[in-house]
Amino acid sequence: MATHHSSAFLFAILACAYVLSALAAHDLADQAMVEKHEQWMAKYGRVYRDAAEKARRFEVFKANVAFIESVNAGNHKFWLEANRFADLTDDEFRTTQTGYKPASKGRTTTGFRYANVSLDDVPASIDWRTKGAVTPIKDQGQCGCCWAFSAVASMEGIVKLSTGKLISLSEQELVDCDVNGMDQGCSGGLMDNAFDFIIDNGGLTTESNYPYTASDGTCNSNKASNDAASIKGYEDVPTNHETSLRKAVAKQPVSVAVDGGDSHFRFYKGGVLSGTCGTELDHGIAAVGYGVASDGTKYWLMKNSWGTSWGEDGYIRMERDIADEEGLCGLAMQPSYPTA
Ligand SMILES: *[C@@H]1O[C@H](CO)[C@@H](O)[C@H](O)[C@H]1NC(C)=O
Repeated sequence: MATHHSSAFLFAILACAYVLSALAAHDLADQAMVEKHEQWMAKYGRVYRDAAEKARRFEVFKANVAFIESVNAGNHKFWLEANRFADLTDDEFRTTQTGYKPASKGRTTTGFRYANVSLDDVPASIDWRTKGAVTPIKDQGQCGCCWAFSAVASMEGIVKLSTGKLISLSEQELVDCDVNGMDQGCSGGLMDNAFDFIIDNGGLTTESNYPYTASDGTCNSNKASNDAASIKGYEDVPTNHETSLRKAVAKQPVSVAVDGGDSHFRFYKGGVLSGTCGTELDHGIAAVGYGVASDGTKYWLMKNSWGTSWGEDGYIRMERDIADEEGLCGLAMQPSYPTA
């Protein structure tokens, strides 16, 4: 009887101790997260309006960090980090950091000049950076004009390949001046529409002549008329066909749309992104190469416009030739390139 009582008593103590220690662990975890948030705020120079805003941001940060840590705990070919986007909700992120408006009426394909390129003539890997056809990584800041950066990146590539000159060209000219069609500066646009504008305008001026401000502005027609480079046209890569995309990227950098709002893409830090990713196209980037990683994983080399601290010095490697024909994060859905 005595034994029975004492074990019941012991159980009560243990149960209580368990609850207490669980609470303590929870507090400790929260405290650790608070510290993590403070360190992150210091690192990225984040200042909040007031305590309420900070408390709200903390909850978002906490959820994002939990996601990042759970992905990193898995056995993946890539890893994520709590980068400067870690206190933004999905909606806030898509609004301010992406800006691709998918071609709603479908694309008007103008022919694919690389259709008959033999795969025997396509190299096993290519990196247009090593051929001087890629300008340094740029940063769109808090302006949804990825479409301008993506269009400019592939244009810089074809200009280099056709003239021998690598010229950093102006995204701001597109943001300010390409406003009479579907493109809407920081509120989003489409690379093919940007190419249409550039063709009609007779070209684009340089980055240094018409520098980036990360905000919508009035078109400076003096600057905009001072063209530094031009394109003759553009073509769409056949939809959902990574082999066609490889033929094109073997020949020149290509503008690509992806689901950049997917958290795997958003928080990417390194390795070859693979596995889960959405196909809600909302972000424009540029394919500037492809290759095979040391473990045999085939990848696309993509130039992004979120600064050099994001990803692999501003670039991302994304798994290539996956079973899903849309490509990882939808990368094979709407690629296109300018022609010279
Ligand atoms: C590809 O080859 C076919 C058959 O010879 C030809 O009809 C077509 O015009 C070629 N396409 C291109 C883009 O050269």
